[in-house]
Amino acid sequence: MKIEQAKITFNCHGTPESKAFDDLYYSNKSGFDETHYVFIEGNGLLENWKEYQNRHFTIAETGFGTGLNFLCVARQFDLFRQANPDHALQRLSFVSTEKFPLTIADLSEAIKNWPLLSKYADDLITHYPIAVSGAHRLSILDGQITLDLHFGDAITSFSNMHVYDDGLVDAWFLDGFAPRKNDELWSEALFLQLARLSKENASFATFTAASAVRRGLEDAGFKVKKRKGFGKKREMIFGHFQQSKKHSQIFKCQHPAYYRAALAKTTQPYVAVVGAGLAGAISALKLIKQGCKVDLICADSKVAQGASGNPLGGFYPQLNAEAGINSQVHIHSFMYAHRFYQQLNDCGVRFEHDWCGVLQLGFNSNQLTRIQKLREKATWPDNLVQYVSAQQASQIANVPLKQDALFIPQAGWISPPDLVRACIDYCHTHQTSEFTLKTNTRLTHVEETRDTCHLSLVETNQEYSAEYDGVILAMGSNTPTSLPPVLPYRLTRGQVELVKESTQSLELKTVICHKGYMTPAIHGVHAMGSTYIKDDTNIEVRADETETNIDMHVSAMQGSDWLSELTMKHLNTQNHNVDSARAAVRCSMPDHLPVVGEYPNIISQQQTLKDLYKAQAPESYDTPSKNCRIMCLTGLGSRGLTTAPILAEIAVSQLLKQPLPMQNELLNALNPNRFLVRSLIRRQPY
Ligand SMILES: Cc1cc2nc3c(=O)[nH]c(=O)nc-3n(C[C@H](O)[C@H](O)[C@H](O)COP(=O)(O)OP(=O)(O)OC[C@H]3O[C@@H](n4cnc5c(N)ncnc54)[C@H](O)[C@@H]3O)c2cc1C
Ligand SMILES: C[S@@+](CC[C@H](N)C(=O)[O-])C[C@H]1O[C@@H](n2cnc3c(N)ncnc32)[C@H](O)[C@@H]1O
Repeated sequence: MKIEQAKITFNCHGTPESKAFDDLYYSNKSGFDETHYVFIEGNGLLENWKEYQNRHFTIAETGFGTGLNFLCVARQFDLFRQANPDHALQRLSFVSTEKFPLTIADLSEAIKNWPLLSKYADDLITHYPIAVSGAHRLSILDGQITLDLHFGDAITSFSNMHVYDDGLVDAWFLDGFAPRKNDELWSEALFLQLARLSKENASFATFTAASAVRRGLEDAGFKVKKRKGFGKKREMIFGHFQQSKKHSQIFKCQHPAYYRAALAKTTQPYVAVVGAGLAGAISALKLIKQGCKVDLICADSKVAQGASGNPLGGFYPQLNAEAGINSQVHIHSFMYAHRFYQQLNDCGVRFEHDWCGVLQLGFNSNQLTRIQKLREKATWPDNLVQYVSAQQASQIANVPLKQDALFIPQAGWISPPDLVRACIDYCHTHQTSEFTLKTNTRLTHVEETRDTCHLSLVETNQEYSAEYDGVILAMGSNTPTSLPPVLPYRLTRGQVELVKESTQSLELKTVICHKGYMTPAIHGVHAMGSTYIKDDTNIEVRADETETNIDMHVSAMQGSDWLSELTMKHLNTQNHNVDSARAAVRCSMPDHLPVVGEYPNIISQQQTLKDLYKAQAPESYDTPSKNCRIMCLTGLGSRGLTTAPILAEIAVSQLLKQPLPMQNELLNALNPNRFLVRSLIRRQPY
């Protein structure tokens, strides 16, 4: 949902000021020196990093503001990595919250003051998120640093963050305006969340020494010390978290069925990714970027032979006027995917795509009502989605259109098989990469033991087994036939047409969506998709589906002469051209959301969670046993280009026990356990 942005002014020192809070974002003397003194020294970060034994360190902050604290830490971490390239600590996560995000113009203006930080600021400015509430993950320094920006109130955001059983945060930066000017933030509810998310011995530092803050932190289980404050400030406080009974109670309040287990490994993890479509290839790339050793296993002789083999696909979110769970998953997946694809491209991973925008036509009365509601409610910011008249839509598309529409300017088209190829090329050529692609290799069984994950595989009729630290199962529509069908998968065949351009149709500049979608002409053809045939897994091209497909486009865009000319020609000639269509099978879920998380252990969980229908408090249930080494990532349905990047990021982050890039409410909606939970609550058979 759209969120209110900060209104700031710059004072005569060039320091940003908030009128609403009547306070400065940082000291007039030097924000840069203040960050170093208060937060970096206050947390003893440099000493802690030297002693740190794990691969990954997490800092969390209240109040992102201009991002100065983040940028200073990013620079310190970069210097640390350059000075200690072989140190165990290799990755940094910075998780920040912001209730009133700065506009991009104000943020750029503020950051201009710090030329030393420009190396890190460029990524931040280029990928700074649109002001929509929820979590936004940015990748900085080619993935060495991850920034999670949670737009919304800090307490709400922290309480909606997933925490592992031994905590999440190593160090806290407690910023946010002065307690006397912002007492809503500095409350007991905040301190309890800090305790809930802290790892044992997590450090904290803050610019203030207000007694209410000191007492609140002590009550929540922190040991608090004082030191001289920055500049003219008399005192500031710092200290560390000491586990307390209260902490374990707070921790238990998470719904046990949605708790996400993770693999804890201090040395390089060896991970198998099964499936070389969009989901598998993007997961492999992300694991390689994290320094893992990866085998990508593919049943076919070549990659991208399943649903991800369609030459062209539309890239856009499915939005409603209400910011319900499905819309939120879509919007966050879309914004993340857009950043991810841009960054891939910027670092030289080239694949065919164009962010030419997508027009969603109000092609029938229901759709027109939907898009009109979206306009009235103004739930989403204009730079994400705009209502346009038929005349404006025609100008944007560069061809005559008869209906009002929604325009999504950042959307467009992508070639899925080219994207898969580019991700795999990246894995092969990445400097430090240990990557193997195993084609003609089929997974037949997977099992988790205490220390490892055991895969049974068949490579060209030869059976063998292999051990890994973890596995990501990304087998698309073959998931239910490859392994026991533990989830309610829905398989739907679809056919997409490749239609030769005409002199009029090659003018089309955007993707057009209605019941189906049509791309502009790319290498002389438009992709026009697609049919939906439930429970049909045959992938031969069918002439009657070509007709269905074409009819669907003609009836949705009635009266468009340019389209009639194109489709008539196609129907007259397509029988002579075997490459004019492709069919594949989608895997989706009954609630139209994909699945990402541990492969469910249904039998054991049915027992542990059998009393769910009694609606007892979450802490009365034990956390069910989990396959923490086996992640499943499937059910991408017809929006794989939009959802695959964030789902892969969730799977990889969870496997490696890092902060997750979405808030709990959305993560729960993607959890493979959700179907079991629903059936237990309704006391229906699973
Ligand atoms: C007709 C059609 C049109 C579509 N249009 C769009 C669109 O416009 N926009 C969009 O975003 N999405 C679209 N989609 C959906 C999109 O294509 C899918 O969501 C996406 O490709 C799914 O990717 P995946 O990696 O999950 O599965 P797949 O691409 O199917 O990959 C599965 C992989 O798993 C491997 N595998 C399977 N079983 C095993 C096993 N036992 N052992 C080893 N390997 C195994 C296969 O070899 C394959 O490599 C469309 C889909 C269809 C069918
Ligand atoms: C002093 S500024 C932070 C400065 C910042 N760390 C920087 O590096 O620029 C305080 C920030 O906290 C934000 N803030 C205030 N109340 C908040 C709340 N309840 N939740 C999240 N952020 C909040 C403000 O909007 C502001 O951006």
